[in-house]
Amino acid sequence: MRLRGRRVLLGVTGGISVYKICELVRLLKKSNIDVQVLMTEEATKFVSPETFRVLSQREVLISTFDYLEASRVEHVQLAQEADLMVIAPATANTLAKFANGIADNMLTCTFLAYKGKVVVFPSMNSNMYQHPATQRNISILKNYKNVEVMEPASGELACGVSGKGRLPEPEEICEEIIFQLSVKDFDGKKVLVTAGPTREHIDPVRFLSNPSSGKMGYAIAKAAARRGADVWLVSGPTNLKAPNRVRFINVCSAREMFEETRKIFSSVDILIMSAAVADYRPKTFSSQKIKKEETRLKVIELEKNPDIILELSKIKSHQFVVGFAAETEEVLNNAKEKMNRKKMDMIVANLATQAFQKDTNKVIIIHKDGTTRFLPEMPKEEVADEILDEISLKI
Ligand code: C5P
Repeated sequence: MRLRGRRVLLGVTGGISVYKICELVRLLKKSNIDVQVLMTEEATKFVSPETFRVLSQREVLISTFDYLEASRVEHVQLAQEADLMVIAPATANTLAKFANGIADNMLTCTFLAYKGKVVVFPSMNSNMYQHPATQRNISILKNYKNVEVMEPASGELACGVSGKGRLPEPEEICEEIIFQLSVKDFDGKKVLVTAGPTREHIDPVRFLSNPSSGKMGYAIAKAAARRGADVWLVSGPTNLKAPNRVRFINVCSAREMFEETRKIFSSVDILIMSAAVADYRPKTFSSQKIKKEETRLKVIELEKNPDIILELSKIKSHQFVVGFAAETEEVLNNAKEKMNRKKMDMIVANLATQAFQKDTNKVIIIHKDGTTRFLPEMPKEEVADEILDEISLKI
């Protein structure tokens, strides 16, 4: 995600869930997003503006008459400089003001002056949320062409009752903001990503596998979705959460992964095979746990798994096919040989010992025409964007 310098106007209104916004500001800053907090007077009763000033490293604005510099007409200037406006939590009171064009504080004035996209996260007691007045105000807001009103989550509310009205967790709001700010250069593209290891069972409780964490493939699926692609993620067993906006398909063995990817392959534009697929599986599967006294576990006879990328490359029409090569030696030569043999359009090569289980990766990207890029070690999220950049040059 290339979000350095993108600016979000974060409107914070007076609900108990304001405490979650402290963490949200921290997450946004970690993603290099510039955050300007606008609080209502009521919000300051829950969390001090000082907390937001320190977390956002910017002055917090509250009254219509606050300003950052004497020469600025602040609400107009803020509106011109922002890339996105987010209101979280949005109380029934502020929703009503937005729906009726009331401009009585810095937030409501800036809302009227802002012509870009506004994402609103209502959060309140479920009776207040369900009230016809609030519902009417929300439907008025939904009719403004620059406003998107998100559904509150359901669950236990701070007032003690359970129902609809919860503010989503900071991570989810942050992900939505990153999605809104990301350049949509993969809009309309259909991308199939595989990730994680496969498990080749010997009996119900034992299997052959490898230490792939799935982090690289999940980062690619996430980045492609943020950049506007329609994404399928076929994943072997991992401990990772399925990314938002991705069609997620869980598989276990190489044969299952082959079945699922084959079904989807014909309808996609890009295949990225980052899964660490087991090359072999046990020839026989015992449906009962093999007892340790049994002699046959001393030798596990193996047979070859389908080579998914090779089989799909044979039937490809327009698809751009990207593979991975996790090598322990001769990385460049082995990767080139693999790319040619498996008829890939591009290969991402790395040292297996530098990639497995880690949050960073150091890769070499090689194209069919020989163009080669050596990247320094960087977080897998950034590697994912670099890989997508290279693909976008060729499609
Ligand atoms: O030959 P090697 O396993 O190193 O090739 C790695 C590439 O081939 C990866 O993109 C991997 O996802 C893919 N692969 C496959 N089916 C296999 C083994 C590997 O698609 N059975």
